[in-house]
Amino acid sequence: MTTDILRLDGKIALVTGGSRGIGQTIVRDLVAQGVNVAFTYVSSEEATKSLEAELSANGRVKAYRSDVSDLTAIERLKAEIQTDLGRIDILVNNAAAFVAKPFADVSEDEFDQVFGTNVKGPYFLVQHLAALMSEGARVINLSSGATKVHVPFTSLYAASKGAVEQFTRLWAKELAERQFTVNSVLPGYTETDWMADLPSDQKRWMAEQADFKRLGSAEDVSRVVLFLASDMGRWVTGQHISADGGL
Ligand SMILES: NC(=O)c1ccc[n+]([C@@H]2O[C@H](COP(=O)([O-])OP(=O)(O)OC[C@H]3O[C@@H](n4cnc5c(N)ncnc54)[C@H](OP(=O)(O)O)[C@@H]3O)[C@@H](O)[C@H]2O)c1
Repeated sequence: MTTDILRLDGKIALVTGGSRGIGQTIVRDLVAQGVNVAFTYVSSEEATKSLEAELSANGRVKAYRSDVSDLTAIERLKAEIQTDLGRIDILVNNAAAFVAKPFADVSEDEFDQVFGTNVKGPYFLVQHLAALMSEGARVINLSSGATKVHVPFTSLYAASKGAVEQFTRLWAKELAERQFTVNSVLPGYTETDWMADLPSDQKRWMAEQADFKRLGSAEDVSRVVLFLASDMGRWVTGQHISADGGL
């Protein structure tokens, strides 16, 4: 048996929302395993440029400004990836929008932003990119612990991730004929930018919800994504895997 049990070297990945947070860590971890990584971003120009500059010393990484909720942008991205990379072996649907407020106060714009980014985005991305994906490719959808732990004020976000989990189950069936695996990863409370302005007692409460009594890190989640992307995960499909320290 080879000692390179991940067997990721030379693979090609696309990660949506790689400029910050969990997506940025997934990009770093894939590059460290020898994967050529394309990632998308929308507004974090500075973080994107510095990530590209840092990682291009160790491997091949390229950023694409592309709003996942915009079908024309998805079509353009497909053409660019086809020219630049030729194929995709690993697609990580990570980009997402988050709104937390009483459902009575949610506006139409907020509804469209959350469903546009979290539901329409991955749906049409996979629909358009499937043709570019290799036999045995991996689709990894970031869902959320919000689909199983019901916290008030998250109905819009949780419903969007519920849709993602159904995509996972059903795409796994449809794409099995090409040997794709399709899985969801459900992070718990994970320390990224959205927590920056939260009061410390709220963060303490979130940490207490996990059996391990701490907040998750982006690395905690990325390790599970790496497993699913790798040869280790080849017999796992149609699953929802929690990465939440026992939330
Ligand atoms: N952090 C948590 O506690 C937690 C818990 C459960 C699930 N999750 C899930 O884990 C994933 C990553 O979460 P995170 O906390 O790392 O998020 P984050 O820090 O808010 O980062 C979101 C990323 O998505 C990108 N993005 C947002 N809208 C986009 C769009 N329309 N098109 C393309 N890219 C877009 C952002 O790019 P720009 O900054 O360039 O705009 C950014 O890179 C998400 O799917 C989230 O729902 C997170």
